[in-house]
Amino acid sequence: MKATARAHSNIALVKYWGKRSAALNLPTNGSLSLTLDRMHTTTTLEWSESLASDACTLNGEAAQGEAARKITDFLDLVRGVAGLNHRAIVQSFNNFPTAAGLASSASGFAALALAATKAAGVELGPRELSILARQGSGSASRSIFGGFAEWKRGEREDGLDSYAEPLPSRGLEDLSMIVTVLVPGPKPISSRNGMNQTTLTSPMYPAWLQTVQADIDGARGAIATGNFEDLGKIAEANCLKMHATMITTKPPILYWQPATVGLMHKVAAMRSEGLPCYFTIDAGPNVKVLCRAKDADAIERELAECAGVKETYRCQSGPGAYLL
Ligand code: PMV
Repeated sequence: MKATARAHSNIALVKYWGKRSAALNLPTNGSLSLTLDRMHTTTTLEWSESLASDACTLNGEAAQGEAARKITDFLDLVRGVAGLNHRAIVQSFNNFPTAAGLASSASGFAALALAATKAAGVELGPRELSILARQGSGSASRSIFGGFAEWKRGEREDGLDSYAEPLPSRGLEDLSMIVTVLVPGPKPISSRNGMNQTTLTSPMYPAWLQTVQADIDGARGAIATGNFEDLGKIAEANCLKMHATMITTKPPILYWQPATVGLMHKVAAMRSEGLPCYFTIDAGPNVKVLCRAKDADAIERELAECAGVKETYRCQSGPGAYLL
């Protein structure tokens, strides 16, 4: 009744921003991502009859409050699927900063979904696992898969058609993503609360909903044909559009720090000097830069010298979730 699983974080190139069901984590729009090789969560889970409650640690520290509640709620789902009453000991380790817009909830719930079902003796296929992981954290649905993945919005109220799928790609094997860490601590507003506030109060949100499907279709096409420039342009514009919806909520949500804006200008400057690269930013201040592997050394060096950059991670396409 024990298993260890690893899942890698993924960074959305077309973002998930807004829920049509908070209970099931059903999105208002589809999204599309790249799973990363260097950033992952490793989770060991053991079901035990003798425990009175779930006991979870993250990087050696007991999970508290909201984080602990989310894990127990998720384990309740697995207990339901497995017909199990046992509680669990969960030990989870991230090899990168947690809850800072670096997609730790994506890798975390994907690893937990795989470890918890395997330890309970439940064998789920990738699609079922994606649906389960989605209920822990929406973006976790995509971390079940390696490389590029698209999470379908779905139409059904029960969420059974809202899962991620791997995307066929050609000619983008040399894609790199350089992740900068500006502020390693947790973000001030969770993506859950940020999304909720945005859907309720941003006058820009209808424009987001009207245009995001075109971004997905464009990005999917660019991935299929290996068009790096198109993919980068779509990703950058989609990220700015998402942040425009956040900035215009009441009260406004501004995840950017001065160093974030500095890096956005730096990316534009490198591009105009002949180094093709594009940025994307999630619900946090850190900037991720998409480029070709052959340019990654030069771009990483330049980014590392920018004001406020504490660390950089040079990533490439990574694998889907697996058992250890
Ligand atoms: O899965 P969540 O609840 O952590 O939300 C992720 C939201 C973004 O990172 C901003 C976008 C995305 O698609 O990953």
